[in-house]
Amino acid sequence: MKKIPFRVGIIATGWIAEKAAITLNGLADCEAYAVGSRTLEKAQAFAQKWNIPKAYGSYSELIADPDIDLVYIGTPHSHHYDVTKEAILAGKPCLVEKAFMANARQTKEVLDLAHERKVFIAEAIWTRYQPAVKMVRDLISSGRIGTPRLVTATLGYSMGDKPRIMRADLCGGALLDLGVYALNFVRMFFPADIVSIESQCVKSDTGMDLTNAISLVLSDGILANVQSSASCVGDNIGVIAGTDGNLIIDNINNPQRITVNTHDREFVEDIHVPQQITGYEYQFLACRDALAEGLLEPREMPHAETLYIMQLMDGFRQKWGVHYPYDDM
Ligand SMILES: NC(=O)c1ccc[n+]([C@@H]2O[C@H](COP(=O)([O-])OP(=O)(O)OC[C@H]3O[C@@H](n4cnc5c(N)ncnc54)[C@H](OP(=O)(O)O)[C@@H]3O)[C@@H](O)[C@H]2O)c1
Repeated sequence: MKKIPFRVGIIATGWIAEKAAITLNGLADCEAYAVGSRTLEKAQAFAQKWNIPKAYGSYSELIADPDIDLVYIGTPHSHHYDVTKEAILAGKPCLVEKAFMANARQTKEVLDLAHERKVFIAEAIWTRYQPAVKMVRDLISSGRIGTPRLVTATLGYSMGDKPRIMRADLCGGALLDLGVYALNFVRMFFPADIVSIESQCVKSDTGMDLTNAISLVLSDGILANVQSSASCVGDNIGVIAGTDGNLIIDNINNPQRITVNTHDREFVEDIHVPQQITGYEYQFLACRDALAEGLLEPREMPHAETLYIMQLMDGFRQKWGVHYPYDDM
């Protein structure tokens, strides 16, 4: 029997939409089937460049295409809400880029709507779906580094004056763009309750957090220090330090190598992840498999976790005075 490809419709034609197209083009049983843009010219140019059969001059037209199995939403975070709601109301399964929404209120509303309509929805936080997650979990549970006590993670890119980072109406700042990875790095290995939080940030003159530091104490006695910056080049490394050694994960935004060190900080081994297309393939495959199983959320990134991290980020922004217009609605 001929295998039908899993057809993905890509919404938007920016940086991440290109990565999605490259990834889907590299997967044997998935297809970049359609692209939707705010302008038909951009959609057509994108479709031609990436060999995509259908091009739509609006997001609504793409959502209405009955042959699409999954709508992938690659607009700025500020613009996830409206298009995601429209897709859910049309009954279309969605994979929505991180940060999932502007805030927890939008997140809860969208997730509630998806539950009510029984429509699959997932957050495209790609690191959650990657093989490194199981590799690191297995290393921790093997006891090789003893009992974990301290987790550190940094993610920093020098992004200049990118509107997506600098503007409140585009949900700017380092936290929603980059800090979300650092928080997920902690939560996907150490999901214990947070018993204490400290944080601070340095803001742009537009009022967005450009560099931030967050310190979390977990109920199992682990301390996690994470930081993110949209204005400098970070080491982007995560460290899980235990009583008998440590794991160094390079990097927390698409791990490639896990280094194991002993009690005396002596090198034991480097473990590499399997060959990738881009690293984004795992999130598309997870959606395909979850849909085939009839699930409404992916096991790798449960809805409760998406909402919890949005709630944490709301709390940090409130403390720092980083405000988006959508917070008042
Ligand atoms: N997972 C990852 O590794 C990763 C990496 C980078 C970004 N992201 C996420 O992906 C999303 C988009 O980021 P990006 O870097 O691709 O952004 P980008 O290059 O600025 O592209 C965003 C696209 O969204 C569409 N759009 C709709 N309304 C818009 C508006 N008001 N202003 C600007 N663009 C608008 C545009 O496409 P049309 O004009 O064709 O409609 C635009 O090309 C963000 O949520 C970001 O956090 C994820």
